[in-house]
Order: sequence, then C-alpha cells, then structure tokens
Amino acid sequence: MPMEQTLTIIKPHAIKDNKATAILSMITEAGFRFAALKMIRLSSFRAGEFYADHTGKSFCEHLVKMMSSGPIIVAILAKENAVSDLRQLVGKTDPEKAEPGTIRKIFGRSMRENAIHASDSIDNARKECSFFFSDMERFRVE
Ligand code: CMP
Repeated sequence: MPMEQTLTIIKPHAIKDNKATAILSMITEAGFRFAALKMIRLSSFRAGEFYADHTGKSFCEHLVKMMSSGPIIVAILAKENAVSDLRQLVGKTDPEKAEPGTIRKIFGRSMRENAIHASDSIDNARKECSFFFSDMERFRVE
C-alpha cells in the first residue's frame, strides 16, 4: 500500500488542558510519522477560511472563535492508509459517541471542543496540508 499523508490539528482547548504530548504520543504509537509539525495561532479570518465548508452552519461562528482562541498544533502525518487510519484513531466527531480508546473519547470535552481535527478524505488532506505548510516546511517520509 502506498504511503499517504493527512493533516491533524490539536485544538486550543487540548493545548490549554496540557494534553498535546499525550495526543501526539498516541499518534506516533499508532505508527504515524511526522512530515511536518508546528505550533501557530490562527486569526479568525484564517480559521474561517479553513472551515469555509461550514459557513452558514449553526456552529460555525463558535468553531471559528474557538479555533482562533489560542495556539494550535498542526502536523502532516505520514503512513500507509493515513487518512482513514487517523480518522479511526481520532473517533467520531461527538466524543460521547466515540469508541473507547479513541483520541476524542479520551480528550474531547464536547462536540464543539473535540480535541483534534483529522482530514476526512485524501483530496481534503492534500488541500489542508497545503493550507498550513509550504513546500519548504514539509519533509519526505519513506
Ligand atoms: P472538525 O473535525 O475540526 O471539523 C469541523 C468541526 O465542527 C468538528 O470537528 C466539530 O468540532 C465541529 N462540529 C461539527 N458538527 C458540529 C455540530 N453539529 N455542533 C457543534 N460543532 C460541530
């Protein structure tokens, strides 16, 4: 199976809860390798751009405010079958409905504050990785 890349974001509340290293450990223990990694703070404008597909939805305003409320950690993760394997490790959007042992089950507070983002398709992973990282910030993972 070919190596795939996907994007993850550790959300501001998980960083405030000091859970970033625990989450990153779960990710690396599941066999993902880093092609890129950084800590940044999004402006509300950039958060709105990233979540443009949710514009107009009832939760969008809160989502943009929350995602720009403090630092986030963004990473490009590499692995065979990375997109769907990460979605499985992350769990369902609502932490209450997520399977035991998933990142959202363990670290999520609510549907709105669900600890982590994971790209939902190979096409979106490609777009989301380019949204956050320039070519110079990305590394080849064999
Ligand atoms: P994420 O994977 O970052 O993608 C969009 C985010 O919107 C999602 O995680 C949730 O945090 C949030 N979200 C999605 N659906 C809802 C909803 N019905 N109510 C509140 N927040 C939601």
